[in-house]
Amino acid sequence: MSMVSVMKRVKTYIHGLDDILDGGIPSGHIVLLAGEPGTFKSSVAFNIIYNNVKHDNHIACYITLEQGRDSLIQQMTGMDLDLEAVGNNLSIVDLGLIRKNLEKLGQQSWMQIFKTYASNLKENIDYSILVIDSLPVLTMLAEFTNPRTELFHFFEWLREMKITCILISEMKFGKEEYAQMGEDFLSDGIIHLKMEKVGDVNIQRRIRVVKMRSTKHSSDFYSLLFGKAGFTATRVISE
Ligand SMILES: Nc1ncnc2c1ncn2[C@@H]1O[C@H](COP(=O)(O)OP(=O)(O)OP(=O)(O)O)[C@@H](O)[C@H]1O
Ligand SMILES: [Mg+2]
Repeated sequence: MSMVSVMKRVKTYIHGLDDILDGGIPSGHIVLLAGEPGTFKSSVAFNIIYNNVKHDNHIACYITLEQGRDSLIQQMTGMDLDLEAVGNNLSIVDLGLIRKNLEKLGQQSWMQIFKTYASNLKENIDYSILVIDSLPVLTMLAEFTNPRTELFHFFEWLREMKITCILISEMKFGKEEYAQMGEDFLSDGIIHLKMEKVGDVNIQRRIRVVKMRSTKHSSDFYSLLFGKAGFTATRVISE
């Protein structure tokens, strides 16, 4: 019998991508999911936790700070996800819900309130995967005075939770930076979503693993398709 312990991984359930990732995202990793507006960031993140709850007995939490809870639910239902199939094992929390708790917490900083909320929820439902949509909105609300230092501490805090985290990062059109305050160095992995112009009129969606610690992976761009069977990453066919 082999003594080598096999690293636990969280499948992305993007067909093709899990093979590229040697099985998925290593458990406990903090991964940035970065892309320009409309590149499927929320959809991909939601699909990952949905499938992990549905198929692998995970409990997950999706914190949406930008898009309201109802709008997100409507969008995911539109993508043929049956939210009743995951029930309470997938919690969707939006800013409104956190704000309601804010009153009870009194005079604390926004970041403190956010952390308290996330920790209490962890104690209550013991989620193993957390999505924050998005990190730039979280840091904007936090009004950091020393962004890099405070973000560093936030990552430390996330690590202590011993969960797998998907942090959505918003990229500006035409810019190559995955993040604004060094999150790209602090994170264990970066998955980049992109829309590529093909010819004069067509846009193709692309996905690429920029980095993933503890994983041998291809860094190439793959085509990202969405269909009946969910998301699929396939080799880009160049013309
Ligand atoms: N069922 C579907 N099939 C194909 N495309 C869809 C479907 N549902 C939504 N879309 C498209 O997906 C895009 C938005 O996806 P999503 O919200 O996941 O992206 P995002 O990167 O999170 O966007 P934002 O920057 O606004 O947060 C929209 O352009 C929408 O038209
Ligand atoms: Mg989004």
